[in-house]
Amino acid sequence: MPFLLILLLLALIGLFLYWQLVWAEGTYLGKRPVAWLYNLVAHRYNDIKQYADEDDARYLGEPLALSLQGTPDPIVLDVATGTSRLPLALCRQPLFRGQIVALDNARRMLHTATDYLRDYRDRVTWVWQHAVPLPFDDDTFDVVTCLEAFEFMPNTRDALRECLRVLKPGGLLLVTNRVGSGRWLLFGKTFSREGFVRLLQAFGQIDVTTQVWQYDYDLVWSIKPDENKTSEVSPAPLRYGVLRKSFESLNPSELLRCPKCGTPFDRTGAALTCRSCGRRYPIGTDGVIELL
Ligand SMILES: C[S@@+](CC[C@H](N)C(=O)[O-])C[C@H]1O[C@@H](n2cnc3c(N)ncnc32)[C@H](O)[C@@H]1O
Repeated sequence: MPFLLILLLLALIGLFLYWQLVWAEGTYLGKRPVAWLYNLVAHRYNDIKQYADEDDARYLGEPLALSLQGTPDPIVLDVATGTSRLPLALCRQPLFRGQIVALDNARRMLHTATDYLRDYRDRVTWVWQHAVPLPFDDDTFDVVTCLEAFEFMPNTRDALRECLRVLKPGGLLLVTNRVGSGRWLLFGKTFSREGFVRLLQAFGQIDVTTQVWQYDYDLVWSIKPDENKTSEVSPAPLRYGVLRKSFESLNPSELLRCPKCGTPFDRTGAALTCRSCGRRYPIGTDGVIELL
C-alpha cells in the first residue's frame, strides 16, 4: 500500500512539473525561469514550431508591409521576438523599406535569431531586455508587435501598457491572444476573445479586429488613436517626413534608453554607454545589444 501511495505521489509531482515547466513554460515561476527554459530550447525552437514561410508571409509579412505603405522609413518593434519569425517575414517583403528592433529576454533565442536573419542584419537591431519596462521613449514606433508571448509574462496588462506607450499615435499594434482548449491550463494568464478586445478598448485602442490565425492563437490588430489627427492635418507620410530623421541617417540603437535612468547612450566601441549614469552595456559578437 505505501508503495502505491509513493507511486501516486510521484505521478502527481511529475504531472505538476510537466504542467509548470512544459505546458506553462515556467510562466507561474517568473520571467527568469521562462527565459531559462527558452534558452534551453533555442537551438531547436524553429524545428519544434515548424512555421510555414508562406503562412507567415500571408498573415504577417504582407499585411504589415501593406499597412506601412505611405509611412517613410518605418520603424517596427517586435517584443518577445524569439527567433525573429516576424522580422524575417517582414524583411522578406519587397514592399517593406524600414527597420526593425527585435527584443527578447532569452539571450540564446536572440543569438539564434541573428543566425536565421543573417541576410538582413542591416535591417534588424536585436535587444536583450525584458518586455517591461521597454527601453524606449514614448511614441517611438510606427508598429509594435508581440506574438505568442503575453501569457508567458508576469502581467499581460503591464506588457500591453508598455507596447502602447512606445507606439506612436496613429500607429498599429499587432498582438496575439491565446485561445484553443489548452488555454484553461494557463488560468489567470489568458483572456476570452471578447475579454481581450475589451482589454484593448479599455486602453483606448480603436479599430480592434480579431483574426482567427493558428489553433492556439488569434491575431488581434488595433490602432492607437491620434488625437491631433483631423481632416485639416496633412497626411501621415508628410508629417512623419518632417518630424523624422531619414532612414539613411537613423541608427535604431539611437532609440534605446538606459534601463536604469532612461537617458540616451553613446556608442563606444562594442558597447553602449549611458550619457547620464555612465553604465556600460556590451554589444555581443553576434550584434545583440545586452541590456540585461
Ligand atoms: C512562444 S515564443 C514566441 C516568439 C516569437 N514572438 C514567435 O512568434 O515566434 C515566446 C517568446 O517570448 C519571450 N518572452 C517571454 N517572456 C518575456 C519577457 N518578460 N520579456 C521579453 N521576452 C519574453 C521568450 O523568451 C520567447 O522567446
